[in-house]
Amino acid sequence: MGRLSALLCLCGLLAVAGVATAATCVANPDHPFESEDPSGCKKCSDDNSKCVECWVGYSFNSTGLCDRCEQNDCESCKPGPNGKMSFCTQCNFYWDEAPDVGTYAEANGTCVSCKTAHCKECTNVNATNPTSTCVRCEMGMGVMPDGSCQPCKDVENCLWCDGNTAKCTECMSGFFNQDGVCKPCSKGCRTCTNATVCLECDYSDPETLQGLVLDTATSKCVPCNSQGCGNCPQGPDTCEDCNEGYTNTTDGKACAKCTDPYCTSCAPGKPDVCTMCAMWNDTSNKLQWGVDKASGKCVDCRIKHCASCQADADKCDWCDDGFWNDEKKGACVPCGDVLEHCTGCSTNGMSDSPTYGQPLCDSCEKGWVVNEATSKCVKKGGKA
Ligand SMILES: *[C@@H]1O[C@H](CO)[C@@H](O)[C@H](O)[C@H]1NC(C)=O
Ligand SMILES: *[C@@H]1O[C@H](CO)[C@@H](O)[C@H](O)[C@H]1NC(C)=O
Ligand SMILES: *[C@@H]1O[C@H](CO)[C@@H](O)[C@H](O)[C@H]1NC(C)=O
Ligand SMILES: *[C@@H]1O[C@H](CO)[C@@H](O)[C@H](O)[C@H]1NC(C)=O
Ligand SMILES: *[C@@H]1O[C@H](CO)[C@@H](O)[C@H](O)[C@H]1NC(C)=O
Ligand SMILES: *[C@@H]1O[C@H](CO)[C@@H](O)[C@H](O)[C@H]1NC(C)=O
Repeated sequence: MGRLSALLCLCGLLAVAGVATAATCVANPDHPFESEDPSGCKKCSDDNSKCVECWVGYSFNSTGLCDRCEQNDCESCKPGPNGKMSFCTQCNFYWDEAPDVGTYAEANGTCVSCKTAHCKECTNVNATNPTSTCVRCEMGMGVMPDGSCQPCKDVENCLWCDGNTAKCTECMSGFFNQDGVCKPCSKGCRTCTNATVCLECDYSDPETLQGLVLDTATSKCVPCNSQGCGNCPQGPDTCEDCNEGYTNTTDGKACAKCTDPYCTSCAPGKPDVCTMCAMWNDTSNKLQWGVDKASGKCVDCRIKHCASCQADADKCDWCDDGFWNDEKKGACVPCGDVLEHCTGCSTNGMSDSPTYGQPLCDSCEKGWVVNEATSKCVKKGGKA
């Protein structure tokens, strides 16, 4: 009884809190472009009473909420004469693929292509700035004193050479800038001040996929100590992520290779227990190996005419051509057995279709054709 009243009391408090905070700001941790949540607020005020920053492509509308700018290449905007978010104040942000030439905001609020050839970024036009100037050219070029974009002399390692084509202003990743010349950082280093001092390493060695980490004592990049370790940010002796075909071991420091030679993924801490097999067999044209759940080893698919069973030798992912994957029966059955006169079939994967999970015919015997509406075979020239 005492417990119940305490609960009721708590509910009352929550209800009051709910009313008081009805208009709280909720920030979207990701840009709406890459999340399910369409809300455009990037940052809320400290007391969560309102939004203080919108994501790019969004701006505050007349009610103080982040609203999507109407123009597709608009980075930020304000309400236009029609009240909609149609007046662009900053351009050069794209929901689709970016064009070759950047865009800027004209004084009338529209986005217009930069006037300089090969220009990626140029200034807005407004009353105090009646012309647009290029500030960033496409990669491998520099903004020259005359305002044009010209290719850098160093075509290999120079990103930008503003002011002078012979002097690089920014080098590519893995190089450092010494008096306008791009020179290589030490092995495995992405960002460095000079050939001896590395600041940031490449994620991993592209050939071995072994992770790389900065050795603070020497300022060099060293591989993770454990074979198969793809990431060891805490230092070479610890391991955070093991590569495909490896799993973590009890001490959390090393990776162990999955014992089965055909295994690409094994259970955490259990190299003997395979969870995914893969070995493309060029002769049979099949991913013929699957996990035997009892032993954790990779064995041939047990279902006849099965083309792939990577996670479970007793469960087919897909069947050989001409067979249908009857998952309920756990068998690959000839297409002709489930669809009359059918020689090639597949499973309807459209979850909103009434025939979801059912066989569909893709090709028929000679003299028969697939009826598009029913996905069944009908006599050529005849009726369904
Ligand atoms: C302001 O933006 C919000 C969020 O997109 C929207 O629901 C609301 O209708 C907008 N208000 C006006 C006046 O356009
Ligand atoms: C805005 O100005 C640009 C450049 O002067 C022009 O091309 C465009 O048609 C104008 N748009 C509107 C809506 O006035
Ligand atoms: C005009 O454009 C310049 C350059 O983009 C910018 O620095 C300035 O703030 C703008 N002025 C106004 C009034 O928008
Ligand atoms: C590299 O940079 C570091 C730190 O700025 C400096 O101490 C060192 O002398 C430089 N080495 C060379 C060879 O320039
Ligand atoms: C291995 O990694 C998994 C997943 O990160 C973790 O749950 C497990 O405790 C680790 N096992 C050992 C033995 O470190
Ligand atoms: C590949 O398939 C062929 C034909 O089914 C078989 O004889 C051979 O043993 C397979 N190879 C491997 C490595 O399993």
